[in-house]
Amino acid sequence: MSRIVVPELLRAAQLKASDPASSIWVSANAGSGKTHVLTQRVIRLLLKGVPPAKILCLTFTKAAAAQMATRVFDTLATWTNLDDAALREAVRETGAPSPSRTDLLLARRLFTRTVETPGGLKIQTIHAFCERLLHLFPFEANVPARFEVADDVRQATLLAGAKRDAIAEAHRSTGALGAALSRIAEEVGSASIDKLIGEAMRARAPALRWSLADPQDRLPALLGGGGLSVEAVERDMIDGGIAPAEWPEIAAFFATGSTNDQKRSAKLGIALQAYTDYGAERSSRTHAVATYLAVFFTKDGPAKALMTKGLAARRPDLLAELITEQARLVDLLEARKTAETIERTQALLA
Ligand SMILES: Nc1ncnc2c1ncn2[C@@H]1O[C@H](COP(=O)(O)OP(=O)(O)OP(=O)(O)O)[C@@H](O)[C@H]1O
Ligand SMILES: [Mg+2]
Repeated sequence: MSRIVVPELLRAAQLKASDPASSIWVSANAGSGKTHVLTQRVIRLLLKGVPPAKILCLTFTKAAAAQMATRVFDTLATWTNLDDAALREAVRETGAPSPSRTDLLLARRLFTRTVETPGGLKIQTIHAFCERLLHLFPFEANVPARFEVADDVRQATLLAGAKRDAIAEAHRSTGALGAALSRIAEEVGSASIDKLIGEAMRARAPALRWSLADPQDRLPALLGGGGLSVEAVERDMIDGGIAPAEWPEIAAFFATGSTNDQKRSAKLGIALQAYTDYGAERSSRTHAVATYLAVFFTKDGPAKALMTKGLAARRPDLLAELITEQARLVDLLEARKTAETIERTQALLA
């Protein structure tokens, strides 16, 4: 065995921490000997004659459990071959008291004893431990008796099946579930719907809390927006400001201006056409709204000049009216975002 020189201070701290008589919390840098301390602790318990079956070590990862087990068993295996002097030294190095003759005998047999005791030394992950607890107390834990934990592959298969069934059911539904699915389908394609459901599943604990607690009420309360639907906001965008009946006159006035005014005139003309075509369909309403918004907004936000100087000089009253309308639409755009978020979230929860 190669020897590493362990600084005296560290060694003293390790010895103290591996004393099984005290309850200890260790937090230390990577590679500084945490696992070593735990291993020593287990070995010192065994040296004291504690039955291996009474020792339980919990780790977070499988790798850490394997490492612990390997170190404990490697040490004990080495001890089977040491002569008395070397074994005494090895035992003392763990921090245990200097061993008597009987102690040495015990130490040499620890390997066999630990390996051979049925249900012996338990070094396992916390997941495995919890699973075992649940198996022991299914009734108390409200889980099916003899349940199985699905591995990743099985989980994926089960989930894919459940997803398929749920989507098929929603597709057949003419009620709220069907509406929710169409709402989501409007937003995402078939590839992303899978991703979306996957993400929702990962957040299923909070999501469940929401859907059980009637998201219909809570979302608007949290997000604001006055409880208006997207449809109500969009109707307000078109009908609540400059009335469509006035649009032709404004478009005609714009047409008498310079290039930019004429462009705006054309846009208003398109909006009017869309508005005229606008029926009950959500898509045509959205189209009418989008074209009307294009009169007041560029892709970067609110248009800076709503008409050129020449026109503004002729109709300052109209310019003022347009600026007011633009501000009204800015607020409504915010309200629409809120309403959309609420509706999409409700659909996703459903
Ligand atoms: N007192 C000691 N005597 C002999 N070897 C030691 C001692 N302390 C630590 N080591 C050795 O140093 C190395 C790193 O220690 P260990 O793996 O226990 O650290 P760790 O803090 O658990 O590391 P990690 O953060 O990677 O989990 C190991 O090879 C271990 O055997
Ligand atoms: Mg470690």
